[in-house]
Amino acid sequence: MNSAPPEAPLLSLTDVSKHYRLGGQVVRALEGFDLEIRAGEYVSIMGPSGSGKSTLMHLLGCLDLPTRGDYVLDGVSVAGLGDDRLAEIRGRKIGFVFQTFNLLPRLNALENVALPLTYQGIPRAERQTRALEALAQVELDQRADHRPSELSGGERQRVAIARALVIRPAIVLADEPTGNLDSKVGREILALFDRLHAVGKTLIVVTHDEGVARRAERIVRLRDGHKVEDGPVLREHDADYGPLAAAEEEAEAEAAPGLPAEASESDPAPPAREPDDPSG
Ligand SMILES: Nc1ncnc2c1ncn2[C@@H]1O[C@H](COP(=O)(O)OP(=O)(O)OP(=O)(O)O)[C@@H](O)[C@H]1O
Ligand SMILES: [Mg+2]
Repeated sequence: MNSAPPEAPLLSLTDVSKHYRLGGQVVRALEGFDLEIRAGEYVSIMGPSGSGKSTLMHLLGCLDLPTRGDYVLDGVSVAGLGDDRLAEIRGRKIGFVFQTFNLLPRLNALENVALPLTYQGIPRAERQTRALEALAQVELDQRADHRPSELSGGERQRVAIARALVIRPAIVLADEPTGNLDSKVGREILALFDRLHAVGKTLIVVTHDEGVARRAERIVRLRDGHKVEDGPVLREHDADYGPLAAAEEEAEAEAAPGLPAEASESDPAPPAREPDDPSG
């Protein structure tokens, strides 16, 4: 599927900066940023508001070009490409999921999902078939003729995910995909991401929620446009994770008797994990 050799990263940013010029001011949204992501990885991006997460996603998704530095996507150096070529790469390799779903209100679910295929000149009948397949992947083929206003929030996000999947992308980029959803519906979306990961998609998800972030294999943390942390997520089902966490809790309780551990830091405690669903 990918033209890059299997050991090479699918995405590679080297010393990338993104500066915005606004009314004589320069905003350094990303600065000296290095990142490599291999095919099939599931990575969360975290960081405070304004730290550069969406800017990073725009670069990774070829919606924008770096001010400086190199971005190699699947063996192709993106930095020097023109708009047409960028749009073509986007249309073939990258599925986007946004916090606000970004569905067109006048189109029904099927038409919304089929839309990215029209830009590829795919004939109408095939567009319909593939859009219906993508809707079935998110278990919404029964809602194909509903407009966004006739769907629940979670269903709208699933339609948006189907629209991302319809081009059969190697990479799915999601910016706060559960930000506008209640926790139950958010969990359905996360279960769907687990399934996409299981079938080999490369997933990159921006989130403010530790619990959401921990569904990934790896968390990259940003601050002020810099990468400040990049490491694997320890799984609860990893043999020694549970006892280790329990031991840490005990040690903390001894250090601060009478204080619940989560009240000791200004950072919100990660929400309690749900019992793992069978797909996860
Ligand atoms: N088009 C733009 N023009 C000028 N400045 C911008 C532009 N887009 C983003 N910025 C600035 O770049 C910085 C990073 O913005 P970005 O949207 O990447 O943050 P973020 O981490 O996604 O934040 P949030 O969590 O609030 O979504 C911010 O200071 C923002 O004001
Ligand atoms: Mg953002």
